[in-house]
Amino acid sequence: MDPKTSDYQAFSAHIISWYRANPRELPWRGTTDPYKIWLSEIILQQTRVAQGLPYYYAFTEAYPTVRDLALAPESEVLRLWQGLGYYSRARNLHSCAKYIWNELAGRFPDNYQALLLLKGVGSYTAAAISSFAFGEAKAVVDGNVFRVLSRYFGIETDISSGKGKKEFEGLANELIPRNNPGEFNQAMMDFGSRQCVPKNPDCESCPIHSTCFAFQNGIVKELPVKINKVKVKERNLHYYVIRCGEHWVWKKRTAGDIWEGLHDFPNSENHPVPIDQISENSPSLFPKKYRHILSHQKLNASFSELEIPRENYPELSQWCENEGYLLVAESEIDYLAKPKLIVNFLNDQEI
Ligand code: ADE
Repeated sequence: MDPKTSDYQAFSAHIISWYRANPRELPWRGTTDPYKIWLSEIILQQTRVAQGLPYYYAFTEAYPTVRDLALAPESEVLRLWQGLGYYSRARNLHSCAKYIWNELAGRFPDNYQALLLLKGVGSYTAAAISSFAFGEAKAVVDGNVFRVLSRYFGIETDISSGKGKKEFEGLANELIPRNNPGEFNQAMMDFGSRQCVPKNPDCESCPIHSTCFAFQNGIVKELPVKINKVKVKERNLHYYVIRCGEHWVWKKRTAGDIWEGLHDFPNSENHPVPIDQISENSPSLFPKKYRHILSHQKLNASFSELEIPRENYPELSQWCENEGYLLVAESEIDYLAKPKLIVNFLNDQEI
């Protein structure tokens, strides 16, 4: 056997034995049901395990099979997703379930290539599902994997470049054992998120430090190399929270938007509100301000509250109809799917 192959085998064997010595009971690990694994992987995209767990339990309880999810109304799925963010994941989840139920006779795609055709399933998620559910030797490659491999093998290629991505993907696919791909992938995920962590890793306790290039050469902090930082766009949103007795004015966000299908309030960013047309009252003098950070956006939001007298209800109702706003009774607000920013604002309100 050439030395490279035996190094690779030793690495994989070490990672798997670390994983067995540091078990973590996670509900999606005891199943080979591709539907449940898919649910868990979509939830865990951009979400930490601790935050995703209650959502996994809620979804598998509400929708134990792909049929149950396919037949659910979208508003209910979005409501259950509330608080997790990146709502396109929930919309894709629902639309894939409908596709599988209606077009594939309820049979979940059973290999990497077929899984890739599902909306919201990229190479990482397809590799995770196909290895866990079907034993296909496809390596997961994400930030954790870049970090572990760049440090252990001393690779300095920029992980944000196309070349870097190809190089790490090629290496991970050479390392993955053909006879145990699922366990290797789980082990890489956990080793990257619990042992070989981004900041101040405890290298002394690491079982593979004696053969880790970065540790042996004192360059753990320098790896992985990432040159392109994501550009963050700053947005200013000014919301008008308009109330009339027990009713609030809401806006259901429409196509082409990260919050599509969710509810927020009329706002000045893309829906100028002709406040003076509906009321002579001026919005509250000191709007409440909130900041909210998304992966590519920094939101500065302010909320001006406006009370419309009950006798103006007919005009308000007509105005909402003309402008595409919704008048929602206070008791119904809890059932609307909303972005986290809006939930935060409501949690500070006394309703
Ligand atoms: N992150 C993404 N997928 C995961 C999984 N299956 N287990 C733990 N963390 C994950």
